[in-house]
Amino acid sequence: MSTICTLSGRRTIIEYITSKKLKSILNDTLPVTDDHIMEHYGNLITPVCVLKPGEQEKTQANLLKIIRELMHHEASRDMTLAAVGGGVICDITSLAASLYMRGMQLVLVPTTLLAMVDASVGGKTGVDYRGYKNLLGTFYPAGRVLICPELLGTLSEREFKNGLAEVIKHALLSGSPLYDTVIRDQKKILSRDTECLEQLIHHSLQVKINIVEQDPEEQLGIRQLLNFGHTFGHALESSTGLIFSHGEAVAWGMAKALEAGVLIGLTDKAYARDTIALLKSYGYPVDHKVEERELFMKSLKHDKKRRKQIIPFILQKQLADTVLYPLNLQVVEKIL
Ligand SMILES: NC(=O)c1ccc[n+]([C@@H]2O[C@H](COP(=O)([O-])OP(=O)(O)OC[C@H]3O[C@@H](n4cnc5c(N)ncnc54)[C@H](O)[C@@H]3O)[C@@H](O)[C@H]2O)c1
Repeated sequence: MSTICTLSGRRTIIEYITSKKLKSILNDTLPVTDDHIMEHYGNLITPVCVLKPGEQEKTQANLLKIIRELMHHEASRDMTLAAVGGGVICDITSLAASLYMRGMQLVLVPTTLLAMVDASVGGKTGVDYRGYKNLLGTFYPAGRVLICPELLGTLSEREFKNGLAEVIKHALLSGSPLYDTVIRDQKKILSRDTECLEQLIHHSLQVKINIVEQDPEEQLGIRQLLNFGHTFGHALESSTGLIFSHGEAVAWGMAKALEAGVLIGLTDKAYARDTIALLKSYGYPVDHKVEERELFMKSLKHDKKRRKQIIPFILQKQLADTVLYPLNLQVVEKIL
């Protein structure tokens, strides 16, 4: 099975492969990965650079480390840099590929569910700088994305649920067939049935592809719809520290966006009730009550898009009916 995504004239071929095939493809590349991947899949990769795992490693220093390794291996533009890892490895390696000799061949092998359904397509690259996430980055879609669902077997429950929140978001944005799978195959999804995950990833990626192809460089407001749940979610993350994972915060944020929509008469009540119940059944903390209200409102007020007391939120009227809606902060306070 394969899919093509075309962004600003650059084609990305997305292929679904086994770990055996992955090993032979990686033999012809210069792979970058992290310690956790080496621990589990060191037999598949001969890396040119191994970074420590985690967001704190998404730095300018590590970007330059990859570039130094490329120089050390006398890499040329026609050689292929391969990112084998989660979103951190994919983002930093893609940035290195876009910069080295003004752009070299790039293959992404996303190994987390989040990276498979989100970070691997869309062309965004980046490193964090002086506390700002992805401050330095480029648009540089990979030529090839290799999805190997088998690799998800070693992912921690927390990381798996991180990606699943984005899958459910894609299901709510698009409706069928992804929505039907999320409702019908919950048991298989949570037990990480490889065949079921392959279908889930395929449909989820298709949703992201449809959106980014319409608005490749985020200039038309369409790509913003992918931020459903994120404005509430980011405020929860920054007001509570590390208590909630990103996925838990996004799922909570989607529930709050639905509640806010019901309060202003925009969102269908039955849809909001059923969707919040769905998120709960997947184990997300949708009932969480914000204790640090002041801190929460303060971080919302830092939103770059705020105008006086109004912030544009992504809300839903119904399944697959999503809008950008200017919400008064008083409405937000009522549902915390
Ligand atoms: N470019 C984009 O469009 C885009 C979209 C979404 C997120 N992102 C970026 O992605 C990053 C988050 O990505 P993430 O959630 O994948 O986190 P991550 O890359 O930090 O990976 C999470 C953890 O899982 C480990 N891991 C990865 N694959 C594994 C496997 N198969 N088995 C066992 N352990 C494994 C990693 O070593 C790491 O410790 C953020 O930096 C975010 O900005 C980018």
